[in-house]
Amino acid sequence: MIAQAETESRGNPAQGVASPVVASPAAADLLHWYDLHARILPWRARPDEAADPYRVWLSEIMLQQTTVQTVKAYFVAFTAKWPTVQSLAAAPVEDIMKMWAGLGYYSRARNLHACAQQVVASNNGVFPDDETTLRSLPGIGIYTAAAIRSIAYDKRAVVVDGNIERVIARLFQVEEALPAAKPVIRALTDDLTPPLRSGDFAQGMMDLGATVCTPRNPRCGICPFLGVCKAQKQGDPATYPRKLVKNSKPVRRGAAFIVRREDGALLVRTRPSKGLLGGMTEVPGSDWIIGAPVWLDPHGAPFAAHWQRTSRIVRHVFTHFQLELSVFRTSASIDAAAPAGMRWLPDQAIKGEAFPTLYRKVLAAALDQPTTA
Ligand code: ADE
Repeated sequence: MIAQAETESRGNPAQGVASPVVASPAAADLLHWYDLHARILPWRARPDEAADPYRVWLSEIMLQQTTVQTVKAYFVAFTAKWPTVQSLAAAPVEDIMKMWAGLGYYSRARNLHACAQQVVASNNGVFPDDETTLRSLPGIGIYTAAAIRSIAYDKRAVVVDGNIERVIARLFQVEEALPAAKPVIRALTDDLTPPLRSGDFAQGMMDLGATVCTPRNPRCGICPFLGVCKAQKQGDPATYPRKLVKNSKPVRRGAAFIVRREDGALLVRTRPSKGLLGGMTEVPGSDWIIGAPVWLDPHGAPFAAHWQRTSRIVRHVFTHFQLELSVFRTSASIDAAAPAGMRWLPDQAIKGEAFPTLYRKVLAAALDQPTTA
């Protein structure tokens, strides 16, 4: 247990009023650091503003498996188009999927829509502030419920994400390896979390992890925990958190087929709504087989044709496997019928279509252009 001490407050930015804060000296130092160094992010309330639970929820769902840098532009675009939970709930799910394209983990977009509809239907568009009710909503787990309660409502909750895990593992020199260390790290975070400003505390810990207590080369000289951090005192902070050596992911291989009609239309189909990349648009492809050699022939093509194999192999990493796709292309006449379950996507609609990043890479490979994804 960390000693609790009464410290001066710099006020609660979410409420705009000074309130006494009872926090451990370490937590108070972190809050002070956050007041000076908080990152400016599009979803964060300014110090004189109250947080908007809709924006907090939307950002936390987007940030679940995606970096802050990538999320920024998506968050701005979503909130410009759907400024309230009511507007998001009323939007067609296909529009949400299109705007989500490129963010990955597409079940998040479906859950986003379902959650918005549930909050509007059952609670007049007001997000709950208790973790149990929050966790009953689609797409909200332990981390996100705690983040919403603390950041949106300034109510105490224990928030632990990957950045916070790293900061805590170093601060307290947790020797147990992840993932077994998770309960210990949670308990230590609970001890350190102050009763007030716990949302600022959580965001301060995240910012510290992202900018100072980084995975490699932590900048201990400018850290508010300098002198308190056990791993820093021992001299090897970058070796925490300890990790079990992971097996590498299996490799699946297959083929993707690009068919352009004379007028530029592209042959596409929609993936089944459940499962990997559920409901997203794809070009036809083969099965993806674990351990198969690189696909040199057009097995699994949608029809017999003169298929030309492009020189590029598209590589993409999913949670449980790596994928390597060979890309084949051919052309079709203007009156060619799309095979069953497929359709022609007009040339001018390709850019706005809900293609996941994998298929953007496939398209770029077929057009022989570099990708940025
Ligand atoms: N990562 C997840 N949630 C975040 C937040 N609210 N601020 C900064 N980084 C985050």
